[in-house]
Amino acid sequence: MTYQPQSDFGTPAATSDAQITLTIDGRTVTVPAGTSVMRAAAEQGTSIPKLCATDSLSAFGSCRLCLVEIDGRRGTPASCTTPVEPGMVVHTQTPRLQKLRKGVMELYISDHPLDCLTCGANGDCELQDQAGAVGLRDVRYQPVETHLGQAKDQSNPYFDFDPSKCIVCSRCVRACDEVQGTLALTVQGRGFGSKISAGMASDNFLGSECVSCGACVQACPTATLIEKKVVEIGTPERAVVTTCAYCGVGCTFRAEMRGEQLVRMVPWKEGKANRGHSCVKGRFAWGYAQHQERILKPMIRGSISEPWREVSWDDALAYAASELTRISNKYGKQALGGITSSRCTNEETFLVQKFVRAGFGNNNVDTCARVCHSPTGYGLKTTFGTSAGTQDFDSVEDSDVILVIGANPTDGHPVFASRMKRRLRKGAKLIVIDPRRTDLVRSPHIEAQHHLALQPGTNVAVLTAMAHTIVTEGLVNEAFVKERCDWDEYQDWASFVSEARNSPEALEAITKVPAADLRAAARLYATGGNGAIYYGLGVTEHSQGSSTVMAIANLAMATGNIGRRGVGVNPLRGQNNVQGACDMGSFPHELAGYRHISDAATRALFEREWGVQLDSEPGLRIPNMLDAATDGVFKAIYIQGEDILQSDPNTHHVASGLEAMECVIVHDLFLNETANYAHIFLPGSTFLEKNGTFTNAERRIQPVRKVMTPLNGYEDWEVTQKLAQALGLDWNYTHPSQIMDEIARLTPSFAGVSFDRLDQEGSLQWPVNESAPDGSPIMHVDGFVRGKGKFVVTDYVPTDERTGPRFPLLLTTGRILSQYNVGAQTRRTDNVVWHEEDLLEIHPVDAENRGIKSGDWVRLSSRAGETTLRATVTERVAPGVVYTTFHHPLTQANVVTTDYSDWATNCPEYKVTAVQISPSNGPTEWQENYAKLQSSARRIAKAEAAE
Ligand code: SF4
Ligand code: SF4
Ligand code: SF4
Ligand code: FES
Repeated sequence: MTYQPQSDFGTPAATSDAQITLTIDGRTVTVPAGTSVMRAAAEQGTSIPKLCATDSLSAFGSCRLCLVEIDGRRGTPASCTTPVEPGMVVHTQTPRLQKLRKGVMELYISDHPLDCLTCGANGDCELQDQAGAVGLRDVRYQPVETHLGQAKDQSNPYFDFDPSKCIVCSRCVRACDEVQGTLALTVQGRGFGSKISAGMASDNFLGSECVSCGACVQACPTATLIEKKVVEIGTPERAVVTTCAYCGVGCTFRAEMRGEQLVRMVPWKEGKANRGHSCVKGRFAWGYAQHQERILKPMIRGSISEPWREVSWDDALAYAASELTRISNKYGKQALGGITSSRCTNEETFLVQKFVRAGFGNNNVDTCARVCHSPTGYGLKTTFGTSAGTQDFDSVEDSDVILVIGANPTDGHPVFASRMKRRLRKGAKLIVIDPRRTDLVRSPHIEAQHHLALQPGTNVAVLTAMAHTIVTEGLVNEAFVKERCDWDEYQDWASFVSEARNSPEALEAITKVPAADLRAAARLYATGGNGAIYYGLGVTEHSQGSSTVMAIANLAMATGNIGRRGVGVNPLRGQNNVQGACDMGSFPHELAGYRHISDAATRALFEREWGVQLDSEPGLRIPNMLDAATDGVFKAIYIQGEDILQSDPNTHHVASGLEAMECVIVHDLFLNETANYAHIFLPGSTFLEKNGTFTNAERRIQPVRKVMTPLNGYEDWEVTQKLAQALGLDWNYTHPSQIMDEIARLTPSFAGVSFDRLDQEGSLQWPVNESAPDGSPIMHVDGFVRGKGKFVVTDYVPTDERTGPRFPLLLTTGRILSQYNVGAQTRRTDNVVWHEEDLLEIHPVDAENRGIKSGDWVRLSSRAGETTLRATVTERVAPGVVYTTFHHPLTQANVVTTDYSDWATNCPEYKVTAVQISPSNGPTEWQENYAKLQSSARRIAKAEAAE
């Protein structure tokens, strides 16, 4: 589309069912009660001049530009703060109003630099537009004192703050408070002296509490807060709506372009997942797409000790096909496999699993979702019948009690966290179950009623003790359970949880959670109104990950918290398309739509469509592929968009598996750690360079649209297709919409999905089919998908990973806001200013016992390996627990994680590793070598780029 700013109705939409009819400028308009006069006018196409109002924020009424006249009322009320009334007669354009507005605007402009022609926002500035709208042509005042000439704050890597252009409308302050919930900005001083300040502790944005979400920049009607890229490149000429490629919130953005250059990503107000908000990653951290280290030409080598050789696409694909054929002929078809990526589109993921099943003739396909949310699939399918969360994000607005377990949404799912915090500020209660004192436990205007700081690895015990409290204190919603769940299974479960050994008191020694706290939290969840559970990888990445998911489902069913708005069980998905990768048949035992490969009818459907015979036996999971490789029977792998060496547990095991293979094909943006073991490198494309869809944590399928030509020449689905063709498969897709059509034909929950519908409706939440033609925002409304809800007895089984004299501390891992997963993208952006390295959090007592201070290098060792990193001493972690992020390859936190995994799904037990921490002189030898390698690779890349 050509460039049009997003529409702005001035004030938020009202939600009342009651309708009010009034007259504006002689025209009748009917709007919901509670609508402002300004919005009612906008909805009928009349735009009233405004500066301090915008429809993402509640009205403030400070600029006095939006004055109107209303019959029967004295004065000229502000239309943004005046609600409509029945029969009201409003005039928006009268000589009196025009004069008043011109006068107000003249005062603003008299204290504003008159540099429009050279200003970065020229042509994209509300102040400029409104000056035109009120007919201001010259300024008569010469103020004695002005704000002109104040110094700019350019500390933030992505946006500038120029106070000389500020009109103190406070839209930025309100955006930070109301939308983002960080409360980083204040208006300091009064009257003429009032100015916007980024917090008390610092006089600049970078040093303040600001988390760089960009909400204030978006809200600013002047060029006071402006993206550096707009200043550098110029204002945008066109916009394309697409979906963020970072986390599972699935924010939609307008990619605003000038020529082939991306100027900025602006959150799309109509996006149903983000409702016009963003975090620093989606909003600003897209520079990696043009990073000089991106590999744009295919490369091959005979062995991993040889240097890479650039070749043409045809040669690379022919070589790959010949190697795959050779290996299949020599070792048998089971020697080959593939890995799909939760970062790629549904269509790309679908093609990779099709390539493995139809091309290799086996089911050796797995996905990086294995290492994060596979227990969600297993647990929710078993209990409810569907491998997905139950709610849409809007649902949180109706929650009364929010239970967050094993998730850190302010860092991991920031835009959803902002929505959740908004609900909490309005009075919902909060229970946090986490070994660490995450930001959510206490942040401005929010304090958790209960923080159960459990011992890592004891989720099941805590949830069972909560269930014990609910059952034994008579807090079960028996009517719901009798109607909706299997009553016999419920009774078995109820008698199990009621056993004295499962009481909070009996389990306190294991969980380290005071029994009284745990009981109080359980009572609150069961009796506090609509109770919603949100969880993350702190639930799934455990040896009892699947049990924990089922224990969560048990709690929700026992309390009747399923099947309506405000309640539910909601996995917060890590990567952008974890849900989609699972939906698309990426697991070795399931075809798209979670149908078992052994089911003959499902296989027949796919066999007819694909014209091949499918293997009925489930294939190998990632760890089994690596085991089989070290055993000498698995020889070739195609890995799209995943760095298993860095993201999978026990790095040494992954490395030896890869080293044992004869053909490793890595298809990615950068030469990642896994590529050190690759023989063929196929350059990948970024989300900005491709068409397709992602499915977020709400089961929301959203379009990904190509905004620029792929620098490597091809979208990823095209590369997979070319590889398939080189292997002799007869694939002829010309657009990903045809792949989605095939998915819809083969997958009942996607039956009603097409690119055309997505273009028209923006997004669709599966299931979309005959029984749910408009999609399914809330699941299990009239009954569970599996019929009766299934209670599952979840006995607590301690992990085999134990602390002892050699490894007395428990390590748990997580993410930080500015970085994403192994950091391949975010480390190649200016986000590094917030997180240059992974740090080890250690409690003051444990630190003192070891003579460790903040900033010291420490050795982190486990039974699997060791690494070094710097320590930070903090009470965020309990004594006995240490924590680190895993974003930097130099740390390689997974060197120390073990091979233990979830009993049902093999999801690695990342969240519990017994470790020892000791002082260290600095990086280990391999880290130093690695750092040298990286810097020389960077030097070479820079030199090549300069040439
Ligand atoms: S920085 Fe922008 S949004 Fe904030 S008060 Fe100034 S003009 Fe208004
Ligand atoms: S960027 Fe976000 S967090 Fe920072 S000041 Fe603006 S609204 Fe607040
Ligand atoms: S919250 Fe997630 S989806 Fe939204 S902008 Fe941030 S990283 Fe992207
Ligand atoms: S827009 Fe209504 S007072 Fe500013």
